[in-house]
Amino acid sequence: MNDAPRKPSPGEPPGHPQDRPFVVTCAPGKYALCRCRRSARFPWCDGTHRTTPAGEAEQTPVKIVIDVEREVAWCCCGRSAKHPFCDGSHTRI
Ligand code: FES
Repeated sequence: MNDAPRKPSPGEPPGHPQDRPFVVTCAPGKYALCRCRRSARFPWCDGTHRTTPAGEAEQTPVKIVIDVEREVAWCCCGRSAKHPFCDGSHTRI
């Protein structure tokens, strides 16, 4: 039996923060990016921020509109100055 975490398929969100961006071709539309870092669909918001632990401020998602289909590198390390977009800061971790 293999207990290693399942590797996501191409285009499937990693489901957790990681030290590299999630690069995917995005269709035009609205996207909600997780800021609480607890979403099971990270970097997409899954509503988990609504169950914020007591004493912690709720971190609502960042909402982005993509106008034309394009490849996007979504930051998954939390260090980008251009969050939610990757700016290469993960290479300096
Ligand atoms: S993943 Fe590249 S800056 Fe965060």
